[in-house]
Amino acid sequence: MNRRDFLSSTALASVTTAAAAGVSTVPAIRSQAWTIGEPGGYETMQRVERELAPQPGEAVVKVAYSAIAARDLGIARGWFLKDLPPSLVPLSEGVGTVLAVGEGETRIKVGDRVIGAHFARWTHGAWTPDNYAVDVGFTANGWLAEHALLPTSGLVVLPDGVDDTTAATMSGSGVTAWHALHSKAGVMSGETVLSLGTGGVSTWGLLLAKAAGARVAVTSSSDEKLALMRELGADITINYRNDREWGKTLEAQTGGVDVVLENVGRLTLDQSMYATAPNARIVMIGTGRMPDELPRMPGLYEKNLSIVAISNGSRVMLENLVRAADANQIRSVIGATYAFNEAPAAFEFAAKSSHAGKILIKH
Ligand SMILES: NC(=O)c1ccc[n+]([C@@H]2O[C@H](COP(=O)([O-])OP(=O)(O)OC[C@H]3O[C@@H](n4cnc5c(N)ncnc54)[C@H](OP(=O)(O)O)[C@@H]3O)[C@@H](O)[C@H]2O)c1
Repeated sequence: MNRRDFLSSTALASVTTAAAAGVSTVPAIRSQAWTIGEPGGYETMQRVERELAPQPGEAVVKVAYSAIAARDLGIARGWFLKDLPPSLVPLSEGVGTVLAVGEGETRIKVGDRVIGAHFARWTHGAWTPDNYAVDVGFTANGWLAEHALLPTSGLVVLPDGVDDTTAATMSGSGVTAWHALHSKAGVMSGETVLSLGTGGVSTWGLLLAKAAGARVAVTSSSDEKLALMRELGADITINYRNDREWGKTLEAQTGGVDVVLENVGRLTLDQSMYATAPNARIVMIGTGRMPDELPRMPGLYEKNLSIVAISNGSRVMLENLVRAADANQIRSVIGATYAFNEAPAAFEFAAKSSHAGKILIKH
């Protein structure tokens, strides 16, 4: 079953209906949010006033920052799966302070500084497509609001050592890189990791791989961005615009990489596979456009390569990432910060992809 089939099944309908039917005894909070509006450009986004009261299993969070990921650009323009309601509040990533919780909540408390797993029901264990049912910023309202109404099942309480701007980028980009490097590839100190690109997942991949003691190679279309990646610790950098056979070049330069964070997708898979050492692990993350011809998968059998795909990460993975970021004093890479009232301009800027790292919105 693909994501579209799943979302048209009854599971999602029952979630939406149950939330709408609840009656809260916690006082309502009125505040502003941005919705995606009708399909079109980012100018169709609407600023609206909402009244929020947490049901059991929900919290109202006063948002400090939210962050934009690649899929949010498609969600806001109406082409990342069609037929989304214009009233959807986008963004899967953010950070804030809990103002109110629904009755019976014991794990999350008023005053906690929190982030939230983007698949809010995936607390631990193996992936299941059921997680699509509560996907914050997509099938459930997200963080682009003065106050966000979020399922408490996904919330993670932050230690003081993780700052707000780093925390705001963890539940989309950070946990994806963590899942790939640690839960799937099992990266070891001294191994070589290839992280494609310089965007949100890519830069988290670089920072986490360095924290794990790996040697890191990064690809980009921009020499300026590559210089920034070297400042952040990248050991090997290569401009994929200037060297179309960059995978073969990397293999020659490094003796082959052990782990690939394939942050682009099937379009770049063949070059990524050329770059690998025997027994390398390739984690498919990017969902970008398909190549004109099917990937040839060079070295798949000869090098005994493993290829595995992932979908974001569980709450336990997010908790492990938070602990690692705290211990290693990791700070996320921020390309630009926009004010809450400039949200459509932030989306426009993110879509140009002239930045490295993440675009933040300060609420
Ligand atoms: N599977 C999952 O769980 C998961 C989770 C999060 C994101 N994703 C997907 O992962 C991808 C990245 O997401 P993101 O939010 O990090 O995006 P992003 O911040 O917009 O960054 C995209 C990056 O892709 C790089 N890029 C584009 N074409 C490239 C190519 N041919 N070779 C190397 N790099 C290339 C660009 O690097 P330069 O500008 O430096 O050239 C750009 O920085 C998207 O497809 C997104 O949908 C998947």
